[in-house]
Amino acid sequence: MSVLSRLLNRTPAARGLVIEPMRRRDLTAIQVIERQVYPQPWSVNVFANEIEMSKQGQRYYVAAHRAGQLVGYAGMMIVADEAHITNIAADPLRQREGIGRRLLAELAWEARRRRCIGMTLEVRISNIAAQGLYHQFGFEPAGIRQRYYENVEDAIVMWCHDIDSAEYAARLMQLCPEGLQRTSRR
Ligand SMILES: CC(C)(COP(=O)(O)OP(=O)(O)OC[C@H]1O[C@@H](n2cnc3c(N)ncnc32)[C@H](O)[C@@H]1OP(=O)(O)O)[C@@H](O)C(=O)NCCC(=O)NCCS
Repeated sequence: MSVLSRLLNRTPAARGLVIEPMRRRDLTAIQVIERQVYPQPWSVNVFANEIEMSKQGQRYYVAAHRAGQLVGYAGMMIVADEAHITNIAADPLRQREGIGRRLLAELAWEARRRRCIGMTLEVRISNIAAQGLYHQFGFEPAGIRQRYYENVEDAIVMWCHDIDSAEYAARLMQLCPEGLQRTSRR
């Protein structure tokens, strides 16, 4: 087995995880996860609207399936040369299997394809899991939005710069070689 094959097969999630544009037929399964992982879940209508805006190019939303089952999803808003990550979630029963990393890598590759130079997001100060994921991708804290969530919890604003560089592409390939096939679309 080659080094690349070994990397591609390093976790059960990496095997057989299919990342595709989010579709309306994904929304029932997405709602099941969304309601489990967020105190203020987005409604079906919000996702449907984001899918519509994806068709016009202002958004990019993807769903991750394994063995025909939806196991995660993520999306971002593109404004000029910046990509704002708006949502990323993995099925609570399948977390820590590399699904979030694969989804974020997909968003980062797409942001590069769209000539973005940076990515940004907000994350709850208590959300250590997500912060760990973002840190892997080179996001750094850039500020605090006080009481951003439910007018109670602060948000950390994070930025990841220079995503258009060759160094960042190498970082993505190292972080998530499973995403390599998608890069060939560039
Ligand atoms: C954040 C989230 C998407 C991560 O998805 P995931 O598939 O579980 O994450 P991965 O398995 O790809 O992990 C990637 C890295 O994230 C970090 N991480 C993930 N879960 C973690 C945890 N419970 N504790 C600490 N770090 C964690 C680690 O750095 C991990 O790398 P490692 O496994 O090599 O140590 C997932 O926890 C989730 O859906 N949370 C609920 C929704 C949410 O909070 N979204 C973010 C909103 S800002």
